[in-house]
Amino acid sequence: MMVKARCPPLVSGQRGHEPTGQSNTWRESRRVRFLFHLLLVCRDQLRGADRSRGAGSGTPQRLRCEGATRASGERAHRAHLRRRGERKTLRSSAKQNEGGVEARGNAKQFPHLKLISWQCRSQIRVFMKILFVGDIFGNAGRRALAEHLARLMSEHKADLCIANGENAAGGWGLTAAILKKLHKYGVHVVTGGNHSFANQEILPAFESDPALVRPLNFPPGNPGKGSTVYTLADGRKVGVLNLQGRTFFAEALDCPFRLGTAAIEDLRTHTHIIVVDFHAEASSEKIAFAQHVDGTVGAVVGTHTHVQTADERVLAGGTAFITDVGMTGPEESAIGMKTKGIIRRFLLQSPVRFEPSSDGPMINAVLLEIDDTTGKAVSIARIFERVRFS
Ligand SMILES: [Fe+2]
Ligand SMILES: [Fe+2]
Repeated sequence: MMVKARCPPLVSGQRGHEPTGQSNTWRESRRVRFLFHLLLVCRDQLRGADRSRGAGSGTPQRLRCEGATRASGERAHRAHLRRRGERKTLRSSAKQNEGGVEARGNAKQFPHLKLISWQCRSQIRVFMKILFVGDIFGNAGRRALAEHLARLMSEHKADLCIANGENAAGGWGLTAAILKKLHKYGVHVVTGGNHSFANQEILPAFESDPALVRPLNFPPGNPGKGSTVYTLADGRKVGVLNLQGRTFFAEALDCPFRLGTAAIEDLRTHTHIIVVDFHAEASSEKIAFAQHVDGTVGAVVGTHTHVQTADERVLAGGTAFITDVGMTGPEESAIGMKTKGIIRRFLLQSPVRFEPSSDGPMINAVLLEIDDTTGKAVSIARIFERVRFS
């Protein structure tokens, strides 16, 4: 989470504006106060960074960020009141502002911002950072996360990690033990795709684990759910929706566009920070869906092809998009499997047993930055890291 604060410019005619002919002392003292305020904000930021460097994988970083935000926000508010020459207390102004926040339906979502006046809130922007990890493939992908996810989360100051885990168990589906390990490594929400139901062993977890989702548009009767609302320790909520495309797939699925739109409407009654994992083969289907829901969700990220695309952008309505996040697994492979068997299959057109590769581990992910206030994306950045195991 990142906080940006700046001192509002003085406008002629406001209380506190420099009177004509005043000595330089007044002007100097105002500059000193402004610089002091900036120093306080920077100090809070640095304290947050220092703590994050010392954090382990299980440390709830969001608490640190939230604390820094509250502190700098209150200070900005006090500085603002001083500039206006008003003698309001934080408590009394908070009461007034609470009504304003409620009017926009944000008070429950942002309790930590209640103490900040609207004038100051306009100067402070709070962003949520979400790390979305592309399809975790086999042992190479799992080990890459085991050894590097905590570092990535800390480096990027991410609040939440979502990962596609449809290939985490040897390239085919998930198991309950592996799901547990992914959570232990720091993955908060696990999404799926066409391989979600590959292992029968995982089926009970779709009912028992609220942070495990599979494509919503599978026929009714399948276990699990297509969306979830994840609540962070500071009370903020993130909606995660999982859909699967229909082009080039054997499964006869319901329309992801129609079901997806309805699911987004439902999620927006809980939170307006929503991330969609659109698991599909065809680029056109992913792009079309992102354009279809542009402005109603924070991000639409494509998964399934295991090849990262370089088309990440924020669409006109404020939805971050990438056609495919890629794969967290072995780079020396054909989308995760040893190339020898894949080549043989193409040459002979006969059944060949594929073996998962472990060579050249890499992490493919995107870092999403979403404005807490609007639910719209501020930025999307690709992450492509070749990693080494210790
Ligand atoms: Fe897939
Ligand atoms: Fe996959």
